[in-house]
Amino acid sequence: MSPRPSASRRTVLRGAALAPVAGLGLAACSPEGSSAKPAAPTAPVELGPESEVAKGGARLYREHNVVVSRDEKGALKAYSTICTHASCPISKLEGTKLMCFCHGSEFDAMTGEVLAPPATVPLTELEVGSENGRIVASPRN
Ligand code: FES
Repeated sequence: MSPRPSASRRTVLRGAALAPVAGLGLAACSPEGSSAKPAAPTAPVELGPESEVAKGGARLYREHNVVVSRDEKGALKAYSTICTHASCPISKLEGTKLMCFCHGSEFDAMTGEVLAPPATVPLTELEVGSENGRIVASPRN
């Protein structure tokens, strides 16, 4: 029968097991290979064909930190996907629900409203329109 590990040894082992998880959290909050802070568009940006966003649906343009949604009448809305909690870029869209993996906030891509905390402030709305069949988003004045 082997001796039971002491409390201090168990504590060290538990700490070592958690360290990689903490590292993942940090990686998720910073853009890969860059020290620049992710940002919403500061000038008009062309996102893609208008047909990409169906009525009642949404599309996440991760490379531009923008989500575009379309209501049942066909009107487009666009929001910055920089999380209003601590500025992580939101990387997941499921249906019309945006999920921030940094601390678990969720947002409605149709309205920008917060669905789950810790964020309390809605996403920043952008101007959106189409030019030659392409969706263009830009900051509001
Ligand atoms: Fe998005 Fe904290 S930065 S939940």
